[in-house]
Amino acid sequence: MTGITDDLRALQTQLQKLTFSDRADPAYEFQKVCVRPFLQKGGLRFQLEQFRGAQVFHKNLDFPALLEWVETTGAVQYRQLLLSAAGTEIQYTEKGGKTRRRVRAADRPAIAPQTHDRQKQYLLREGENIPALVDLGVFTRDYKIVKSKYDKYKQINRFVELIDDVFQKSDKKELTILDFGCGKSYLTFILYYYFTVLRGIKVTVLGFDLKADVVARCNEIAQRYGYDGLRFYVNDVTTDRLFEGKVDMVVTLHACDTATDYALLHAIAHRVPHVFSVPCCQHEINAQIRPGGDFDLLLRHGLLQERFSALLTDAVRAEVLRLCGYEVDVIEFVDFEHSPKNLMLRCRLKESKTPDLGAIEALLEQYGVKQTLVEEVKKLK
Ligand SMILES: C[S@@+](CC[C@H](N)C(=O)[O-])C[C@H]1O[C@@H](n2cnc3c(N)ncnc32)[C@H](O)[C@@H]1O
Repeated sequence: MTGITDDLRALQTQLQKLTFSDRADPAYEFQKVCVRPFLQKGGLRFQLEQFRGAQVFHKNLDFPALLEWVETTGAVQYRQLLLSAAGTEIQYTEKGGKTRRRVRAADRPAIAPQTHDRQKQYLLREGENIPALVDLGVFTRDYKIVKSKYDKYKQINRFVELIDDVFQKSDKKELTILDFGCGKSYLTFILYYYFTVLRGIKVTVLGFDLKADVVARCNEIAQRYGYDGLRFYVNDVTTDRLFEGKVDMVVTLHACDTATDYALLHAIAHRVPHVFSVPCCQHEINAQIRPGGDFDLLLRHGLLQERFSALLTDAVRAEVLRLCGYEVDVIEFVDFEHSPKNLMLRCRLKESKTPDLGAIEALLEQYGVKQTLVEEVKKLK
């Protein structure tokens, strides 16, 4: 097809969508490509969605790169293009080596391109094409939030927003992230999507979980969408040797009981710069605790004991991380209504230190408890 790039130049700021279809060579890998403009760091960029079977591959280009892609690929590999812009639609059809160009007025108002920059409420927008979330049951087929998954959607959205606070200005080109107790992996998928599609950063995201069937399904979905850097493994994170390479971030979202401790231990032992951890079911201390300290009053009622034990667990974790050289913020990451387990340890490594755990051990001793992170960090050289 010819003449497209002239129209693109003329309509650059009014473009809303380009749809390339009808492959010239049926063996060409992508059946269809859709292009949409978006704003990033104040500049206009274009996202290519390339469809191969059920998989979708994303690529972000600036305008000169888009023109080059259209000239060398779009106009060569496809025989049809629908160019939609504010107020107009142009259809190109290639037949017998000739390009037919039909223009018609379209009743389509100008709309500002969506921004992929930091606009917290828009990080994972309802209605946005995130097909993996459909497979995971969080979005319906038309990208609306499934009602029963609203709390989970809130959690993963907020989790990613907090990560965005740290990484929005990052000039990193590649990152490796580990997710301990990833389960159905809503967060794991979204992290992958956030970094690759919204931030254009190449990431390897590895999820670990005990459940073989869930891990197999997550790997299947990752492959379906061509998420090559996203992989899931069946592991017991409390006993197995996991990934030994360089890691930039450890995340946990409701990893059960001591699974959280082993995630934090991995971060400390491997000097991982960033940790975002939302603990869950802190049973370990609750199962051992007995009176002996200044807060015995809190152990007289089961409910209070359970809450005190959970708070003590997370306070000890935060302190161990601090003593190991992390700057630690303990924050409420979502409102209680979206999850009662809503406390997050957000940690950034300042300088790796050998901790003096004496004061924490003395405190725990008063209540007759041993705590996994403390015990494991003591073993580190
Ligand atoms: C409450 S789910 C949370 C799943 C996921 N992170 C989310 O937020 O949807 C906790 C997950 O931790 C996993 N898990 C618990 N103990 C584990 C262990 N020792 N090693 C690996 N995974 C574990 C469970 O199998 C479960 O899938």
